[in-house]
Amino acid sequence: MPAHPRRQLGHLIVTPFVTIGVLSAVLLWEVEHVGSVVLLLAIFVGALVVGIVVARGMRRDISRLTERYEGPLMIADEQSHQAEAANHLKDEFLFTLSHELRTPLNSVLGWSRLLASGKLDATQTKRAIQAIERAGWAQSRLIEDLLDVSQIVAGKLQIAPRPAAVQQVVETAVESLRSAAEAKHIVLRLSLDPSIGPIQIDPDRLQQVVWNLVSNAIKFTRRGGRVDVQLGTEGDQLCLIVHDTGIGFNAQVAAHLFERCRQGDSSSTRQYGGLGLGLGIVRHVVELHGGTVSASSPGENLGSTFEVRLPLRQAVAPLVSAPVAGTKPPSLRGVSILAVDSDPQALEFVRATLEQYGAIVVTASSAREARDRFEREPTDVVVSDLVMPEEDGLQLIRDIRKVDDALAPLTPAAAVTALARAEDRRRALSASY
Ligand SMILES: Nc1ncnc2c1ncn2[C@@H]1O[C@H](COP(=O)(O)OP(=O)(O)OP(=O)(O)O)[C@@H](O)[C@H]1O
Ligand SMILES: [Mg+2]
Repeated sequence: MPAHPRRQLGHLIVTPFVTIGVLSAVLLWEVEHVGSVVLLLAIFVGALVVGIVVARGMRRDISRLTERYEGPLMIADEQSHQAEAANHLKDEFLFTLSHELRTPLNSVLGWSRLLASGKLDATQTKRAIQAIERAGWAQSRLIEDLLDVSQIVAGKLQIAPRPAAVQQVVETAVESLRSAAEAKHIVLRLSLDPSIGPIQIDPDRLQQVVWNLVSNAIKFTRRGGRVDVQLGTEGDQLCLIVHDTGIGFNAQVAAHLFERCRQGDSSSTRQYGGLGLGLGIVRHVVELHGGTVSASSPGENLGSTFEVRLPLRQAVAPLVSAPVAGTKPPSLRGVSILAVDSDPQALEFVRATLEQYGAIVVTASSAREARDRFEREPTDVVVSDLVMPEEDGLQLIRDIRKVDDALAPLTPAAAVTALARAEDRRRALSASY
């Protein structure tokens, strides 16, 4: 059993001093009081022997201490390397994030400036508006991915399985990417097994999985390539295969493919955009469904294949088809709405949108102003932001409910907010939006 390291260290320091002290004292005493050369020699030889014994003991102590600290030192070294690597990844991710956020933003700012100049003709104006809309969607998807990842990290991402026609889910995701494939002259083929009946999945999340895999396949395939999407079953498993003839990947990239914030090429000279979040989200969602996802590639520039396998759980309830939107646009003619937002631009947008459908819109730029207005003259509906200075939208709805209690019935109220987490939704609902 090794001695306590502190004691061992104490021995290492004290023993040589004590030994040297005692031997010097004995020698001094001999020289001063006896003066015999023979005794001097005998003491000297004795001192040498004691010195050797002490030195050997010290060497043993030193090796024991080294052994004891070698393990922790190696672990500390390893941890410091890992921390350095994580720090490097974080810096790289922040750099990529700022670049990816700025790209659509630059497009929005550039096109809006051109629009404001009033020099664009009708065709250019249409193109400008389309470009702004595309950039807005790109940025919104990026933020959605970031939110999903933060939910995954916090262990809060949930799925809501319900009966769904899986072919329709896959088809919708693939078709939404067809124009992107066509723009690169990529042949996008879809093969669906029609015999699969309704199964128990979260259709929105599965659509996200398909979208991520197919958009990757299109992104990492050069012009004129091919992307094949196949949906079928194997035994008691649902099997989705996305194959492309694109850039493929080597073993080094394959090892980190499904890790969050990892990309095959994250250098500043990379050819492909993105944050490296898609496949991390795919894996998490697939695992939440009790399935697996794998990827393979024969090598660089030899294409790749991604395969998702999910347990085939037959739907436990009949399929509920989504309500089909009517051809007639909805009308809010004659409905009075109180719109509340501290941001004037956002407020103006809500007003313009609601007025388009014939609503009579009253606006307020703070919770207090909204409450005063509502108390003076209640509206048919309330639409409010949640985050506002001084009093927030949650407090506002509680105050409005007090007025409602006096008047009855409850005024329909909706929260319009950028707070998109499930807990924000819960908080808004429990405050009675
Ligand atoms: N079909 C594919 N062919 C070749 N490499 C791929 C393919 N799909 C993914 N990869 C590699 O895996 C990495 C991680 O993919 P992932 O979808 O997570 O991130 P991304 O597409 O780069 O960014 P994001 O999905 O956040 O927009 C990619 O950067 C790429 O190197
Ligand atoms: Mg991706």
